[in-house]
Amino acid sequence: MHGELEVNGAKNSVLPILAASILNEGISVIHACPKLKDVYSMIEILEHLECNVTFKGRDIIVDATDVKDSEIPDNLMRTMRSSIFLMGALISRNKKALMSFPGGCDIGHRPIDLHLKGLRRLGIKIEESYGYIRCEGGRVRGSEIHLDLPSVGATENIMLAAVMAEGVTIIRNAAKEPEIEDLQNFLNSMGAKISGAGTNTIVIEGVKKLHDTEYTIIPDRIVAGTYLCAAAMTQGELTVINVLKEHLEPLLAKLKETGCEIQAGKDYIKIKCDKRPKAVDMIVTLPYPGFPTDLQPQMVSVLSVAEGTSIVTETIFDNRFKYTEELVRMGADIKVDGRVAVIRGIEGLMGAKVVARDLRGGAALVIAGLGAKGTTIVEEAEHIDRGYESIEKALKNVGGDIVRIM
Ligand code: UD1
Repeated sequence: MHGELEVNGAKNSVLPILAASILNEGISVIHACPKLKDVYSMIEILEHLECNVTFKGRDIIVDATDVKDSEIPDNLMRTMRSSIFLMGALISRNKKALMSFPGGCDIGHRPIDLHLKGLRRLGIKIEESYGYIRCEGGRVRGSEIHLDLPSVGATENIMLAAVMAEGVTIIRNAAKEPEIEDLQNFLNSMGAKISGAGTNTIVIEGVKKLHDTEYTIIPDRIVAGTYLCAAAMTQGELTVINVLKEHLEPLLAKLKETGCEIQAGKDYIKIKCDKRPKAVDMIVTLPYPGFPTDLQPQMVSVLSVAEGTSIVTETIFDNRFKYTEELVRMGADIKVDGRVAVIRGIEGLMGAKVVARDLRGGAALVIAGLGAKGTTIVEEAEHIDRGYESIEKALKNVGGDIVRIM
């Protein structure tokens, strides 16, 4: 594959930011939005809450003047994991929230205990019964919260609930992902007083009122990383535009180990891979700035055709190797034991009929199919649409032989 690919705004930024838009009794204009299934699901929830939402070009305009309802029906909650951000947002806006447990990709156990524990520390009363969670936050008070582990979602949900609390909230052992800093910057652009996002201590000084805002979200580092892996898989040469190199350092380090040449500028990364990739000794997924779990499947696809044996350990989710069974159908030699995968690189994969069972695993199969001999059919590709905007068009434009047939 050869050519240039442009990346849109980050899914994991736009979803909490859209939820955050209901904090302001007015208008938020959000630029660089990706057209993804999860974004449309979040818009549907906002519309259910009586927001007026317009998606024009790359801009989403949310008018949240009339958010009176605080209840989200089960069918909307189940569309994605990120529906949980409405919990913190509704508490800030309406002092209450009623919702069921969120849905999301099946990549292992995904509890929300840390979200609830943090919100309780802010004085919010939470009752769980018959699959529903009822939150009452008559008086939300700032507090010190030490997260048992740096959960991205829990950090963001607590930030959302604490924006208008009385006093100061300090989140320790916070997650440090770039999308958390993006949420902080968006909230601050509306008048919130938050500092420290991107480090493990976040300080939120409660404010009384927010105001209208206009904001541009950061590029999607996971989509960019997926395209870089596609180049490594197919021994191609790609330039990925609208990407921040510092967000992708852990992947770039590993791609260099496989022998790819990487050159980066202010907003682009160029990758050139003209030989079979070399195996890498060890990849361990970790919270940011460690190797992202969301790029683990795509990297394993690359390593499945590398020279030598690689070991990949998944420490974030407990069932994130399911897609490897599909890679094995394509000829890959991968053994999984719990959280560890041993990948013995083979010379090349063979096309086969495979099934995408989750978002990133699905993207990994698309990459594998591009590099494989013969035709690969990826079924249930709708999982991929949750995080990639027309992946087939993006890859076809740079020489990938790929079509959507359903
Ligand atoms: C976010 C990302 C997702 C990414 C993940 C890890 C969004 C919208 N999604 O998901 O793409 O794969 O970070 O980088 O930003 N945990 C608990 N209790 C909780 C919450 C989490 O035990 O209350 C555990 C999870 O089971 C998991 C780990 O913490 O093992 C990390 O999860 P978390 O960081 O919360 O991921 P998400 O916010 O769901």
